[in-house]
Amino acid sequence: MPKQFILDLVADMTLEEKAMQMTQLAPEFFYHKEPANLTGPFRQWRFEEDQLACMGSTLGPSGASYLRRLQEDYLAVSRQKIPLLFMSDVIHGYRTVYPIPLAQGCSFDDALVEEAAAATAKEAAAAGLHVTFSPMVDLVRDPRWGRVMESPGEDPYLNGRMAAAMVRGYQGTDLKEKGRIAACIKHFAAYGQPEAGREYNTVDMSRGVLRDFYLPPYQEAVKAGAAMVMTSFNLVERVPATCNKLLLRRILRSEWGFKGVVISDFAAVDETMNHSVAADPEEAARKCVQAGLDIEMMSGVYASALKKLVEEGRLAESEVDECVIRILELKDRLGLFENPYKDADEKDEKTLLLCKEHRALSRKLAREGMVLLKNNGILPLDGSQKIGLAGPFADTGCILGGWHCEGKVEEAVTLRQGMEESLGRKLPVGMSAPFLYTERHDVPDDVCGALDALSDSQVCVVAIGEPQWETGEASSRTNLRLTPHQEKLVHALKAAGKQVVAVLFTGRPMEIAPILEDCDAVLQVWFPGTEGGRAVSDILFGQYNPSGKLAMTFPRNVGQIPVYYNHYQTGRPLVREDDYFTSRYLDCPNSPLFAFGYGLSYTEFTCSGLAASPDGTQASVTVKNVGARAGETVVQLYVRDVSASVARPVKELKAYRRIALEAGEKAAVSFEVTDDMLGFYNEEEEWVHEPGWFDLFVGLDSERVEQVRIYRK
Ligand code: GLC
Repeated sequence: MPKQFILDLVADMTLEEKAMQMTQLAPEFFYHKEPANLTGPFRQWRFEEDQLACMGSTLGPSGASYLRRLQEDYLAVSRQKIPLLFMSDVIHGYRTVYPIPLAQGCSFDDALVEEAAAATAKEAAAAGLHVTFSPMVDLVRDPRWGRVMESPGEDPYLNGRMAAAMVRGYQGTDLKEKGRIAACIKHFAAYGQPEAGREYNTVDMSRGVLRDFYLPPYQEAVKAGAAMVMTSFNLVERVPATCNKLLLRRILRSEWGFKGVVISDFAAVDETMNHSVAADPEEAARKCVQAGLDIEMMSGVYASALKKLVEEGRLAESEVDECVIRILELKDRLGLFENPYKDADEKDEKTLLLCKEHRALSRKLAREGMVLLKNNGILPLDGSQKIGLAGPFADTGCILGGWHCEGKVEEAVTLRQGMEESLGRKLPVGMSAPFLYTERHDVPDDVCGALDALSDSQVCVVAIGEPQWETGEASSRTNLRLTPHQEKLVHALKAAGKQVVAVLFTGRPMEIAPILEDCDAVLQVWFPGTEGGRAVSDILFGQYNPSGKLAMTFPRNVGQIPVYYNHYQTGRPLVREDDYFTSRYLDCPNSPLFAFGYGLSYTEFTCSGLAASPDGTQASVTVKNVGARAGETVVQLYVRDVSASVARPVKELKAYRRIALEAGEKAAVSFEVTDDMLGFYNEEEEWVHEPGWFDLFVGLDSERVEQVRIYRK
C-alpha cells in the first residue's frame, strides 16, 4: 500500500505534471531552455519550461558537484519539490573500471562479482547517482552482436547467478544506506537474440525457448530484489517489449510479483510507431501505459499525449497514477524526499574514485575472468627468456571495453606497463600502433618493423583483438576474424621461429581458428579494465594461475553461429561421422572451437568417481590437482532430462563451485540435485517436475564430463 504522502502528492498533481514525472530526459534539456541549444537527437523533442520544471528523472551525466547543483536548481522551480532521480549506465565500474560483464561471467565467482558491484555502487553514489542501468543479463549466443560484452554469457543459470550477485552488490538490503544505488535489469526481454546478430533486429522465438533460456536470468534478478527493469528495443512475439502486456503485466508483475519501476530503453516508446504497432503518439502512449511502462526514456510521447488521452477518456487517470506512484515509491525507497542529494559528496569522490582498494579488486576480478585457451607449456613465462611484445594492444589504455562510464583510458595500466613492472626491465616492442577511432577496421602493417624490433626475442607476446569502440551497442559485425594485419603479425612471428603467446583483447568470442595453430599459447583477456595490464602480466608470469571458464562458446567460424552447448538434441543427432543423413555440416564439425565452461590452468585437475545417491538427490565427485602447482577450477553440474513432455536441452548447467586445491590435493565435491533443477515449463506454460530418468554430468567444462543416470519420482 503506497504511503499516504505519496498518494497526497499524486492527488495534487496535474496531468501534465504526471506525464513529466513519467519522462526521463538528459539534464541538457533542463539547462538549455531553448531546443535550439540542443543538438542531434535531442533537437526533435520540444519541451516547455514548465514541463521541464516537473520532469521525473535524468540519465547520463554524473558528478557530485554537477548533480547537487542540478537537484538544487530543479527543486527551486519544482512546484511540489519532488526530487529528480539520477540514472546512468554504470555497467562494469564507475571511474574504476572492472572487466566487462562477459569476462565477469567467465570468473564463475559470484562473491567477487558482488564485491565489485558494491565497490562500483560506492563510487557511483558518491558521484551523485541513484540508479544504474545494470545488470544487463540478456542471454547471448551470437558474437556477431556487439553487446555480448555486456552480458555474463550464454547460460541461463550462470547469467541468473551473476545478475543476482550484481543486484545484491549495487543495492545491499536498504537503498537508503550510504553507497547503495538501485539496479535496473535490462533489456527485458530477449534482446540478445536479434536475427543474424544484427543490432536492433527482429527477435522471434517460441514461447518455450523464451521460457527455457531467455527469461530465467531476469527472473533471478527480480528475485534478488532489483528495483527497476528496462524494456528492450525488440519485439517479443510481434509486440515491442516496451508495450508488451505478456512481458510486463503477465510475466513480470503477476507471475514474478515485480513491484518496481519499468523504464523504456532510449526513445523506445516513440519507436513503437516504427514497429508499426502504434499509428500516432496517443496510441503509443496508451499502449505503453496500459502495459505498465512507468518511465519513457528520452522521447516526448507521454509528455505530448497523456493529458489528451485522459481528457478524451481513452485512458483512465488511475492507470497513469499507478505509474507515478511506483516512481515516487522508488524515490522514497532511496530516501530522496528526506535527502534529495543522497550520497553526492565531492570529498567521498576524491577518496573513493580509483582508490587502491578498488583498483586491486578490479585486478583480481580481471585475472579470474581471463581464460587460458591454449598452452603448449610456454606459459607461465619467467624472467630468463628473451621476451618481446607486439600488437596494437601492447601499449594502450583502450582496454576498458564498451560502456566504461567515467573510466579514463589514460588511467588504465597498459600491458607493456604491467609486463615491464613484473620483469623490472624494458621490453622490445614492435607494431604497437593502437587502433585509431578514425582508421576503422585495421592497424598499419608494420610486421617488418616488428620482426626487426623483436629479432632477438625468443618469446613474443602478441596483444591483438578488436577496438573497444567496435563493441557494445550498435556494433554488430558479419566478420569475426582478427584483422588481416594482426593475423599477418602472428604468422610472421611464427615463421621467424618465435614462440608466440597471443593475448586477445576482445568484447566477444572472435574467429581465432586461423591463428590458433601458430600460437603456442592463447590467453583470452576480454577487456580487463583499469588494471588490465597488471592482471594479464600476473597470469603471463605465473603470479596467478588462470582459472577462468568460458561463459560463451567460441565458434570455429561465423558460419557455425549460433553454436552453444545447451541445444536441443534434434531427431537426427550427429553420432557417427559417416552417417550422412544426420544433423551436421559438409564443411565443418558440429563441435565449437572452445566450449562453454572450458578453460585451462597451469596445473592439471581431474574429476572422477561421479556417484549419485539412490534417490538421485545428491551427486558427488572427486576433484584432484594432479599437477605441480596450486590452482583453482570450477566444478560444473549439468543435467539432462532424458525424456519429457517437451524436448529438453542435451545439457543444462544447474550448479557450479569454484574450488582451490594445492598440488596433489583432492577434495570431494557434492551437489544437491533439487526438484527445481529438473523442472521446466510445459506446453501449457506450467512449471512442472515430470518423473523419469535424468542424466547428471559433472566436469570442469561442458564437454569432458563424468555421467550418471538417476531416476526421479
Ligand atoms: C541505450 C542502451 C541501454 C542504455 C540506454 C541509456 O540505447 O540500449 O542499454 O541503458 O540507452 O543509455
